[in-house]
Amino acid sequence: MSPLARNVLVTGSNRGIGLELVRQLVEGPDPPEHIFATYRDLDGSRGKALQELAAKYPPVRLIQLDAVSLASVRAAVKEVESQLNGRGLNLLINNAAINSYATLQSVQPEEMISVFTTNVVGPIQVAKEFLPLLKRAAEEAGKEELSCSKAAIINMSTKVGSIELCFNVLEIPMYPYRASKAALNMVTRCLAAELKDAGILCTAIHPGWVKTDMGTEKAPLTVECSVKGILSVLAGLSQATTGVFLDWEGKSLPW
Ligand SMILES: NC(=O)c1ccc[n+]([C@@H]2O[C@H](COP(=O)([O-])OP(=O)(O)OC[C@H]3O[C@@H](n4cnc5c(N)ncnc54)[C@H](OP(=O)(O)O)[C@@H]3O)[C@@H](O)[C@H]2O)c1
Repeated sequence: MSPLARNVLVTGSNRGIGLELVRQLVEGPDPPEHIFATYRDLDGSRGKALQELAAKYPPVRLIQLDAVSLASVRAAVKEVESQLNGRGLNLLINNAAINSYATLQSVQPEEMISVFTTNVVGPIQVAKEFLPLLKRAAEEAGKEELSCSKAAIINMSTKVGSIELCFNVLEIPMYPYRASKAALNMVTRCLAAELKDAGILCTAIHPGWVKTDMGTEKAPLTVECSVKGILSVLAGLSQATTGVFLDWEGKSLPW
């Protein structure tokens, strides 16, 4: 069995889905050579589990990255590049995001801007700055078909960002969050179209409603179950599934 990808980077991996992605990748049967687990801040209990993983497993490399700060993203690229020692980055998972429950009545411009900055500007900025390393990985793989083991950007989206499904899943308005993820979906489509010829796959994934700080205890799905599904979906991505929107079980979702 070969690893899902030789070199992987996950944003927002100090807790929730990001942390579980790092755990299952490194504890899987064929772990990547490097898993760059990025965090904003490791102080307090939020960073403890990730620090323990990094202490136990050498492939886990802790990298500071605040997705909304260009200086921080560029410093992370430098650090990752030096650790890769001439190799490319195969898989970038844009997982970091923030939520907002603002309704039409409560929404403020500042909150719209803040959520857009994290959930849309962040992932596109991270993708743009890591692009040379992704292109390097694609070139190393040559004529191989598109896949996560070659070179890929995965954007963690959500079903509630689907414009087509909106009328079915509008129990909670969440204007800033929904609008930001709809925009992230468009970013995903644009990246997929633009980067296909460079050998880079780009797909949006809905992880399900998951028990994390964001998903809350009310969520039906455990983080272990969601991430197990996501990793199996990622392993099956190909030319046919670049530029699509899939859930954690591999079901196709409308944009
Ligand atoms: N949980 C669900 O039910 C659910 C459903 C659909 C989609 N999703 C999506 O799945 C992804 C992960 O969600 P989750 O439930 O694991 O969320 P979470 O538990 O709230 O964790 C969010 C992660 O994002 C990081 N983050 C936030 N802003 C950041 C920034 N500017 N730079 C870098 N990192 C930043 C957080 O870091 P700090 O600890 O520093 O804040 C944290 O590590 C998100 O994209 C979310 O939208 C989740």
